[in-house]
Amino acid sequence: MPQYEYVTREIGVPVCTLTAADCEELLRGRRAAELPQWVPLNGRRAEFQVPELPDDNVVLQVPLPNGKKLEVPLPERCKEGDTLCLLQRQDDTWKVVPKKHRFSFVVPPCCSGDVLRLKPTDHLELNFAVPENVEAFNVVTLQADADGAWNFQQCAVLPPETEPLPLPEWTSGQYQAILDALKSKGYLDRLCPDESGVLNVGVPFCGHFHEYITLGNFLVKHRLEMPGVQEFSIFGMELFDDYVRDWALAQRWLWRQHQISCCIEAGDLAQDPTPKAQWVIGIHPEVTKGGPWFRIIGSLLHSCRGLCCFATFYEEEKDTLLNMIDMYKVECASVDAFENPFYAANELGCHPAMRFIVVVDQSCGENSY
Ligand SMILES: C[S@@+](CC[C@H](N)C(=O)[O-])C[C@H]1O[C@@H](n2cnc3c(N)ncnc32)[C@H](O)[C@@H]1O
Repeated sequence: MPQYEYVTREIGVPVCTLTAADCEELLRGRRAAELPQWVPLNGRRAEFQVPELPDDNVVLQVPLPNGKKLEVPLPERCKEGDTLCLLQRQDDTWKVVPKKHRFSFVVPPCCSGDVLRLKPTDHLELNFAVPENVEAFNVVTLQADADGAWNFQQCAVLPPETEPLPLPEWTSGQYQAILDALKSKGYLDRLCPDESGVLNVGVPFCGHFHEYITLGNFLVKHRLEMPGVQEFSIFGMELFDDYVRDWALAQRWLWRQHQISCCIEAGDLAQDPTPKAQWVIGIHPEVTKGGPWFRIIGSLLHSCRGLCCFATFYEEEKDTLLNMIDMYKVECASVDAFENPFYAANELGCHPAMRFIVVVDQSCGENSY
């Protein structure tokens, strides 16, 4: 059984609130629909190697054929010698992504012999015929060789379903309290499915996505309170695939317990569009880091014609988030911010998880879109 490496992210405690003035110039005054990640690529691309760097916090200046210089903040975890791909969009902005050599995915419910359509990179689609010994919810890893050809590297199998699942206390504490608060405030009535009766639930920047049991049980328990909802589908995007094993556990449990299809992908929410959703639940956005988070919050608001809910630790994060929402929400949206009722009966401590809840209702009285 292959071992998975877990990473620790250092998250600073925010000390200030960001406003529209802290947003990169290119994005100021743009509506959410005009954010770069929603503009299609035009096919022009270039690659270059990251040069020797004084430190990780650099902005590279890349000379363009038109004589201008493109400023490229070094993507997270990118280091000297790595290859960066530049992909131009139709509005002349550039998508910047580290070149991938490895691609892991969770095998969806399927049979051996089925052909899965995979997209390991922006300019490559692969047909993957599921081998006989590979089953649904296995984690398959493909590796690119020096010539760019992708090969099967490994297939990891999940532990049996009888093994206990990771269920941190906050999933039945703070997280459950968010869902209950939304219900008691009447927000579930405003959740409208798509044309096929599917309520698409977005779980952006979901990390491990340990909350899947609480979320799955809540959706199924309250389905009849959501007008017209027949089915649920969950989609998540997270920067790195470090948590792919947890995503596989979540996908298996949601499918086998509740027939909820769930797909979590590695991707950059500041660079890639996310599928349309009617309910987005984003826990702990790192908004006070600024930079890409303006694009991320704007993009999520654009993807959601329903409820966009966020939870933050700190007041500065909540206020920064409200400023970002103000920049990108649709005109008819209503915004509500309140403290998580969980803390009425529990101590705050130094780093109160999910303390502030922010709800943006962009349904504007419409049934679906
Ligand atoms: C504070 S953590 C929250 C994780 C999880 N929601 C939780 O509350 O435990 C923020 C998450 O945002 C993810 N993230 C940061 N930048 C991102 C980006 N550009 N696209 C997608 N995810 C991103 C990080 O990898 C990290 O997992």
